[in-house]
Amino acid sequence: MNICVIGQGYVGLPIAIQAATAGHKVYGFDIDSVKIEKLKLGVTTSPEVSGDKILALQKSNKISFITELSDNLSIEVFIIAVPTPLNEKREPELIMLENACLTIAKFVQSESLIINESTSYIGTLRNFIYPLIKNNSSAINLKYAVAPERIDPGNNIWHLENTPRVISGLSETAINQAVTLYSSFCSKIYQVDKPETAEAAKLIENTFRQVNIALVNELSEVASKFNFSLHDAITAAATKPFGFMPFFPSIGVGGHCIPVDPAYLSFSARQVGIESKFIDLANATNLLMPNKIVSRIESQLNVKLSGMKVQVVGIAYKPGTSDIRESPALEFIKILESKGSHVTYHDPFVNQWNHLSSEPLSSDIDLGIIVTPHDQIDFSIWKKSNTNVLDLSANARNYGWPKFL
Ligand SMILES: NC(=O)c1ccc[n+]([C@@H]2O[C@H](COP(=O)([O-])OP(=O)(O)OC[C@H]3O[C@@H](n4cnc5c(N)ncnc54)[C@H](O)[C@@H]3O)[C@@H](O)[C@H]2O)c1
Repeated sequence: MNICVIGQGYVGLPIAIQAATAGHKVYGFDIDSVKIEKLKLGVTTSPEVSGDKILALQKSNKISFITELSDNLSIEVFIIAVPTPLNEKREPELIMLENACLTIAKFVQSESLIINESTSYIGTLRNFIYPLIKNNSSAINLKYAVAPERIDPGNNIWHLENTPRVISGLSETAINQAVTLYSSFCSKIYQVDKPETAEAAKLIENTFRQVNIALVNELSEVASKFNFSLHDAITAAATKPFGFMPFFPSIGVGGHCIPVDPAYLSFSARQVGIESKFIDLANATNLLMPNKIVSRIESQLNVKLSGMKVQVVGIAYKPGTSDIRESPALEFIKILESKGSHVTYHDPFVNQWNHLSSEPLSSDIDLGIIVTPHDQIDFSIWKKSNTNVLDLSANARNYGWPKFL
């Protein structure tokens, strides 16, 4: 099929590559011309896709990266993969989704299939995407489906091909066509009767994580007062072979999913007159973590942060990625600076952030704080120099420093 994937980011690029590998002709469309020029040269920061693969697929004419659409591309399927962030009030900001729909409306041909992969509130396909395209296009018999993306960038075990894909649509034909398409590059499809069910499933998955992480983050304060390690308690609890799933405390949640999607679910609830106190409390709990941890550092270590030389390791929201969207490390650094600390950071994936640049790991500091431990980081300089180190990382990797949370 001729497929256009709108948005070539963490979600859109891997899907474009996967579809092209499966034999479809893919147009990877993005409004970011710098990104498109880099992709043409095989340059990407996506941990899912190699430059060689991008170049090979372009060479065999299976994929083309474009910033302009035209009627003569004979596109049969549009897949939407644009950001769906929050606005200043932490409510859904759908301007990019709206623009993507208007682009589709301009170029879509009758009988085409339109699939939304972007995460959004319940009812987005039926009440936002469908009317927007229908009212701005003369094409007829369009089909609308939803296939929420579940990718976990950098996860070497679960990827696009082997992670089951939930699919639904506004009509049986739309569902069938979407199922056929995704079956060509995903090994498991799970079909649901309504798009609202699929949209809700995606939001529930990430809200589940948000709520459980908030729970352990709250408990980490309790554990510190009782003077035991919450990591150890959770690890012990996880020896129960049923009915328990371990989550570990951290300085909060980051990325474009866990901090964002629950707010879309909470928004959905408000639309039908329900206040989702549970979700809102989890959001608030995790958002407060950087602040709480700074206070705990001062009180538990009995130190004054003012004038201290602090180096933060890893400011991306998780290991193996350069993505700093919603990363709690950024808020953490701002709070440390507001306390008068001299903060540097080291992150091999993030060269520059705000007024700071990534600096080599240094032993000329008063305190090292591990937030996001990328595999590539060699901590031997801190080990050799007996640097004071706090390991705040959630993945409980053992570098030998005591866990602080
Ligand atoms: N990042 C993840 O791990 C992840 C996982 C699952 C689902 N999602 C969801 O997928 C969606 C996309 O997220 P992402 O992380 O890939 O974002 P991203 O920022 O990495 O990529 C989105 C791309 O869309 C482009 N874009 C924006 N508006 C456009 C338009 N009108 N036309 C064409 N291109 C446009 C941007 O330039 C950008 O390159 C979001 O809804 C997100 O919630 C993300």
